[in-house]
Amino acid sequence: MYPRCPVFLFAVSVTAQQLGFTLPLSRIPGRPPRVGQALDNIPLVNSQHTYIINATIGGQVFRLVFDTGSSDLWIASTDCHDQDCLAVPRYSPGISATSTETGLLFELDYLVGKVHGQIAFDTVALGPYQVQSQVFATVDQTANLGLASTATSGILGFCFPDTAAIPATAGATLLENIMSSFEPSRRVFAFHLSRSSGFNDPSASFTLGALDPAFVQDPTLLALSPVARTGATYDYWKLPVLHFTFNGQPFTLSASRVIGADNPIAVLDTGTTLILGPSADVDALYALFGPAARNDPSAGYQVRCTHASLLGIVLGDPPREYLLHPADVAWAEGAAGGWCTGGIQPNDAVNAGDWLFGDVFLRNVYVAHYCTDQPVVGLLNLTNGTTALAEFRQERGPDMDGDEVDVNGTNADGGGDTTTGYVKRWARPASGMGARMFGAVAGGVGFVIGGVGAIGWRMWRGV
Ligand SMILES: *[C@@H]1O[C@H](CO)[C@@H](O)[C@H](O)[C@H]1NC(C)=O
Repeated sequence: MYPRCPVFLFAVSVTAQQLGFTLPLSRIPGRPPRVGQALDNIPLVNSQHTYIINATIGGQVFRLVFDTGSSDLWIASTDCHDQDCLAVPRYSPGISATSTETGLLFELDYLVGKVHGQIAFDTVALGPYQVQSQVFATVDQTANLGLASTATSGILGFCFPDTAAIPATAGATLLENIMSSFEPSRRVFAFHLSRSSGFNDPSASFTLGALDPAFVQDPTLLALSPVARTGATYDYWKLPVLHFTFNGQPFTLSASRVIGADNPIAVLDTGTTLILGPSADVDALYALFGPAARNDPSAGYQVRCTHASLLGIVLGDPPREYLLHPADVAWAEGAAGGWCTGGIQPNDAVNAGDWLFGDVFLRNVYVAHYCTDQPVVGLLNLTNGTTALAEFRQERGPDMDGDEVDVNGTNADGGGDTTTGYVKRWARPASGMGARMFGAVAGGVGFVIGGVGAIGWRMWRGV
């Protein structure tokens, strides 16, 4: 992944020597790693189910979408005057002494909306790491991206360089720059997505260069799988899926549409909210729910909010089973009339793989991304079926349908209807989209699609 030797268009000021590498990267003075920890813990915040990470660009701090499904860094600039930009902090090249604008066009067209701007360089800091003359994009026009709803000023991509829209000739991605400063054994970033919103959930974790010992006391428990390639290259963080399980019974998936793949391929993507997969499989899966699921023409699949099902995903090489918390299957966001949003939705336009595994899957695991020449994903199962079912029953009250797995936890609040104020509308993907697009969605929940430059990212758009 990182052997490429970037050709910089502009002079890069090299200021730091670390671990014998000469790189435009330094540790920010006065911010050493916490004593006794060999890792750099950086806050990762759940903001209305978009996961946010802070970065400093030209001395200005921004909230950015943490996205393992794209590879660029872009930020709204003070040249951006549209509604969405005006509602969030914007990058001001004028007040940064280290900013270099290039005039080189940066443009991404999305199915719903777009961004337009230019390629620039500035000092970028992430946690204790600081890269001088980091290439990124300043955006002066956005449309329909919903930045305001999560108060995010841009996106920080943690996917492979081949997926970046900013050309490699302009410079390496932030992830490449940070990883290449580490010795090979430390080239890893790892995270856990918290379940609840805000800064206070101690289960949120993001580390660079090491695993978080709060999650991984015994590294041998981490299941390591090689990332699936596309031809000779790595594009997305992809793993083979063998099958699902539904309340302990195997659930077979249809054959992969990916040429040469023995099993369906899943793309892991923090920038996607839900799990998206082939409609044939998703239809068959919800058929198992009986009257506890329905396919609403405007809202997509919905599950009774009080209905617990234990869905497992058998993933990786060698394969292991990861259970989804029932609250991720009957997702309380968007609940109306006792119906919750189904955490899994059909989408036949996922082209980077067969399935897109977003946050409803990723919240159930601890994930380590090894950015080595032969990249590896390490997963640790965190959802225990018995505990999760008891929590679900405690939260959602008694089952209104009766037909589900036995669980001892009881709660008499009777409320199956959680209200959060979100209404989601799903649309089937339109046909004829670009080959690199993941899918399409309209309305409240969902994502926007990268076209130019082969970006495919999506974010919570709120309402
Ligand atoms: C994870 O899987 C292992 C091996 O199957 C199992 O022993 C462990 O209990 C699981 N962890 C959770 C949280 O369920």
